[in-house]
Amino acid sequence: MTRILITGGAGFVGSNLVRRLQEERPEARLLVVDDFRMGTFRNLGGEGKDGWSFNGEVMAASLRGLDIYELVNEFDPEIVFHQAAITDTTVTDEARMIADNVEPFETLVAAAVQRGFRLVWASSAATYGRSARGAVEARRPFRLEDAGQPANAYGFSKWIMENIHRRALAENPAARLVGLRYFNVFGPNEQNKAHMASMIYKLSQQMLAGQQPRIFHGGEQARDHVYVKDVVSATLAAAGDGARSGIYNVGTGRATTFNRVIEILNEALGTRLAPAYFDNPYAFYQDYTSADLSETEAGLGWTPKYTTEEGILDYVPALRAGEPG
Ligand SMILES: NC(=O)c1ccc[n+]([C@@H]2O[C@H](COP(=O)([O-])OP(=O)(O)OC[C@H]3O[C@@H](n4cnc5c(N)ncnc54)[C@H](O)[C@@H]3O)[C@@H](O)[C@H]2O)c1
Repeated sequence: MTRILITGGAGFVGSNLVRRLQEERPEARLLVVDDFRMGTFRNLGGEGKDGWSFNGEVMAASLRGLDIYELVNEFDPEIVFHQAAITDTTVTDEARMIADNVEPFETLVAAAVQRGFRLVWASSAATYGRSARGAVEARRPFRLEDAGQPANAYGFSKWIMENIHRRALAENPAARLVGLRYFNVFGPNEQNKAHMASMIYKLSQQMLAGQQPRIFHGGEQARDHVYVKDVVSATLAAAGDGARSGIYNVGTGRATTFNRVIEILNEALGTRLAPAYFDNPYAFYQDYTSADLSETEAGLGWTPKYTTEEGILDYVPALRAGEPG
């Protein structure tokens, strides 16, 4: 029986991944490790959403205090999907960010190298930050080499994780390590993230309440908004036999402006609400993000199935139901 460990499996992306794993690999034994600081049992079939039930096991623990070697020695996973992290990009406590995000990861990487399990983990487009200035000015997709000067502690923690990944792979070329730079993910089960939920989720909530959607002045800022179903497909592809170790972008490959997101939502929700513009309070704000997917396609054999518009259309029934997911 294949044993698969999913850290952060009660969170937004993790729970979508768990659900797909259970559907596609019913024979597998799934273990979720999550300390539930952001995750919730509701994402794992709690309250009987869609009649779905999670058949696996859950350990409520923080990776920070956990003996990771003991965990992997006992569970003996073939694949570890590592999603757990402080995901609030506004957290400014840098020591906590490193202690939570980087330190357990370092142990996981060492264990993966030693025991030979596949490790697929969530990096972030936040690793681009200021170093992607050239790509932002040219409004071209971000290439892998554009990263390295993250603009916040969160992005910094993901960059340091990438450094650990790169060093481990250089020293152990046979290791199966894949890091995925997710761009702006949206979709069912993100409501647990509150103020860190996607702008698509937040705008839809305003519009469903009959309020004008609020965005920064101009509204021509553009992001690569990627649907969670595609993020899950990419994450599964990264654990597949054909996947090459490395770091990859995961997005749609296109930037969609905030004004356009509101147009799509108006069409999909049957509303006609004009944006209410307000001043951007952030000193540093990435006006533009877009993923270059050429390496992703070559290394993982994965391309996105949903455009941002198609993802929003797929998401709308859940948004309308008032209980995303
Ligand atoms: N959602 C996005 O747009 C996005 C973009 C880029 C990268 N990512 C990355 O993807 C991963 C999943 O993010 P998400 O959007 O699902 O966020 P999320 O906050 O919903 O999921 C993270 C989960 O990890 C758990 N967790 C956090 N720290 C933990 C710890 N120390 N020990 C055990 N459990 C812990 C939380 O309770 C939560 O369930 C994260 O690593 C995040 O950095 C997400």
